[in-house]
Amino acid sequence: MKNKVLVIGSGGREHALAWRLSLSTTVGHVFVAPGNPGTQAENNVSNVAIEASDYTGLIDFCQSNAIDLVVVGPEQPLCDGIVDLMSQAGIKCFGPSAAAATLEGSKAYSKEFLEKYNIPTAAYASFTEVKPALDYLQRQKYPIVIKADGLAAGKGVVIAQDAPQAVNAVKDMLAGNAFGQAGDRIVIEEFLVGEEASFIVIADGENFVPMATSQDHKARDDGDKGPNTGGMGAYTPAPVVSQEVFDKTIEVIIKPSIAGMQKEGSPFVGFLYAGLMIDALGNPKVLEFNVRFGDPETQPIMMRLKSNLDELCLAAIGGNLKDQAIEWDERACLGVVLAEKGYPDSYQKGSLIIGMNVENNDQNRKIFHAGTKIKQNELLTNGGRVLCVCALAEDIKGAQSKAYEYVNTVSWQSMYYRRDIGSKALCGNFTTK
Ligand code: AMP
Ligand code: GLY
Repeated sequence: MKNKVLVIGSGGREHALAWRLSLSTTVGHVFVAPGNPGTQAENNVSNVAIEASDYTGLIDFCQSNAIDLVVVGPEQPLCDGIVDLMSQAGIKCFGPSAAAATLEGSKAYSKEFLEKYNIPTAAYASFTEVKPALDYLQRQKYPIVIKADGLAAGKGVVIAQDAPQAVNAVKDMLAGNAFGQAGDRIVIEEFLVGEEASFIVIADGENFVPMATSQDHKARDDGDKGPNTGGMGAYTPAPVVSQEVFDKTIEVIIKPSIAGMQKEGSPFVGFLYAGLMIDALGNPKVLEFNVRFGDPETQPIMMRLKSNLDELCLAAIGGNLKDQAIEWDERACLGVVLAEKGYPDSYQKGSLIIGMNVENNDQNRKIFHAGTKIKQNELLTNGGRVLCVCALAEDIKGAQSKAYEYVNTVSWQSMYYRRDIGSKALCGNFTTK
């Protein structure tokens, strides 16, 4: 009997996960709740009209359809405890418990955890009141980083260049209501310099296996300018993660994190994503933890994954990841996010997307949907990040030129994208393999 899998979520990450799962030799069918027009169009995949926040509805669906595995895309259900609820109902749900998901759900918790287990990260202090936070700022150097404690969809981070900006950010978060409850507590953190990379592992509570390395582009505009977003493009592998940096990251970050969570009584099962800042000497520090796959990192990484993802997830749930190997396509992959102009602030929805043909997708390139919808047989934009255009090639340079060639085949009136995804990988002194 092949596995019936349910993917929870509706973005580009979930499209990529569902697509990869649908190609697994051990998967019979993939359902996505609620999914998007991209998932609906895949062979062997169907959307289910249940919201990612309707936990009772999702459990009912799993029970009535004998679902063998649930894969949760976004962080909110994980932090809300969907894995705990599903496990209590006897359903195999891949991801961390609510307690383990606090690594992403509270930046103050994750900083305390990093400090306790001597895992390298930026120096910091956390505050719930404005006055002590402002006093602390007076003794700091600039730029400095101010973060809302809770989930803020990638937008709860302000890099303040000077004291007035920092004071504004502190007041906005703590006294204003810029981030709702997520801003009841803030972390003020030393500004780190270096090169960023996303280091994602699959963990079973005790053992882990690294995924291919990647780099996201969080700033909206070319040259890493403009506001922070969920991510405007990504590529894999990340040359900044040389073998030496890779080995160091495993030793000083991943191993102590997995062991630390075990000691805390919240063993980490799921995808653990360490956002790294790597300094000029190749020393990695943790910028943040995410407790799920990155978006858009998932899209290019899934293009390279050869192993059966459902088997890996089931092995992790069963505590059997030890000695599991993951097979990767040796080639590089690069994904460019096509967004609505104005994202992440205000932007329009409902623009007609031109040029999307299923036959455009072949083994070497693919367009993943994120914020799209179908209305009267037409494909329209329906969110800030709309599509992610991915291409595989022998190296990042090749993947970059193929991805941008492919971008040229798609358009809508207010389409916006960065033109320099991958450029840092090409100008650095890195080797790509
Ligand atoms: P986070 O959500 O914590 O990963 O922060 C979002 C982005 O802000 C990161 O990807 C970095 O580009 C930047 N950032 C966060 N913390 C720092 C820091 N301590 N130093 C420099 N940049 C940072
Ligand atoms: N790409 C960064 C994130 O998923 O948070």
